[in-house]
Amino acid sequence: MLSEKLLKELNKQINYELYSAHYYLAMAGYCLSEDLPGFANFFIAQAEEEKFHAMKFFNFVDEMDGKIKISGLEEPEEDYKSALEVFKAALEHEKFVTKRIYHLMDIAMEEKEHATISFLKWFVDEQIEEENSMKDIIVQLEKISGDSHAMYMLDKELGQRVFTPPADSDQ
Ligand code: FEO
Repeated sequence: MLSEKLLKELNKQINYELYSAHYYLAMAGYCLSEDLPGFANFFIAQAEEEKFHAMKFFNFVDEMDGKIKISGLEEPEEDYKSALEVFKAALEHEKFVTKRIYHLMDIAMEEKEHATISFLKWFVDEQIEEENSMKDIIVQLEKISGDSHAMYMLDKELGQRVFTPPADSDQ
């Protein structure tokens, strides 16, 4: 049985993950407006992944007999100056999500809520990947520094990204 405090925070996390999908779709929209369809594809796939994260929390709350609560979403930023600025904002967002996951883990550990601790471990590992994928692209964009051929090649590469839920997913 989840405590009221943990249930509230897990429900908040469903919303944060849904907001992340929203946030990345707005970034995809910006990339399309800049004629960067591959970059847009990257963020559309990222938004799919965020919905998958939201549903993992959604299903977990239900499995733990908690009452699911969905609330409204803020309007995401949609004006950026460059693809580099977009990825820097995406990295900051992922760092924020990592802090949220740690916050949830701190509560679960304080309460010795072992089922939640076990569930959250997947997200602790996932956040390392999430931050690294944004960092890798930032490094590439900094190297490219406006070279249009290199931008074209990176756009092509990012256009290949497809989100496939992990095979061991319990969603
Ligand atoms: Fe759901 Fe990108 O963290």
